Formats: sequence, structure tokens, C-alpha cells
Amino acid sequence: MKKKLKNLLPQAVVDFIKTQKSMSEWRKRNFSDNSPQIVKQNVFLKYGIKDAAWVETGTYLGTTTSFLSGLFPHVYSLEPEPKLYAAACERFKDKNVSLFNDVSENIFPSLLPKLSGI
Ligand SMILES: C[S@@+](CC[C@H](N)C(=O)[O-])C[C@H]1O[C@@H](n2cnc3c(N)ncnc32)[C@H](O)[C@@H]1O
Repeated sequence: MKKKLKNLLPQAVVDFIKTQKSMSEWRKRNFSDNSPQIVKQNVFLKYGIKDAAWVETGTYLGTTTSFLSGLFPHVYSLEPEPKLYAAACERFKDKNVSLFNDVSENIFPSLLPKLSGI
């Protein structure tokens, strides 16, 4: 979308257009690999356990981390790439998010046994 047009439209319209575009691209990929964020979020809401903590493998830019932290009590998110991890630390400081700068296979054996609840 052109930057000038984007600045003129209300954010809700910009978000709607972005969602439509990502759904269309996903359909063209025959619904393979990365699904649009809106699809991921609906799956999380459908299958997520109320009041449970989430463990996310790969923080990346923190889009899903942010979504989950707004709806669930705690998010544990693992990101091995140092710059992505540093950006996430800044974004989620003072939030209900614990970040780890390592691959899941190194963190899971010590993290998972500590989690309890539903
Ligand atoms: C597809 S992105 C994750 C997207 C993110 N969960 C979201 O929904 O926005 C993949 C991320 O996983 C990270 N990653 C790659 N191998 C990993 C591993 N073994 N353990 C944890 N994270 C890993 C990458 O550095 C990258 O940031």
C-alpha cells in the first residue's frame, strides 16, 4: 500500500486491507507454511487453555508474544538470535513475559519441569 494513502486511511481500514492481502497470499500458497497472523491468533484463542502460561519457540519480532501476553497470565518466549532477543527484552521489559536467548532444545529441559497449573 502506498505510504501517502496509508497515512490518509483510518488504522482499522489499513489493518483490514493488510489482513485481506495476507489471506489472499496465503491462499495462493495453497495454505502452506506461515499462516497470516490473524489465523494464528484465532487458533491460539480456540485451543489456548484459559489462564494457562504460554511457551513460544521463536520470539522473532514479538508479534505473537505481545498478543498472548495481553490475554494470558504469562508468556515464556525463546529466541536464539541475539539482536531479536535484545529488541524483545526492550519491548517486553516490565511485562508478563520471560525471555531466553537460546534455542528451545537447550531451555526446555530446565524450563518445562518448572511449569505447573492447568
Ligand atoms: C517463524 S519465526 C517465529 C514467529 C513468532 N513465533 C510469531 O508468531 O511471530 C521463527 C523464529 O524462531 C527462531 N528460532 C529458530 N530456531 C529456533 C530454536 N531451535 N529454538 C527457538 N527459536 C528458534 C528464529 O530465530 C526466528 O526468530
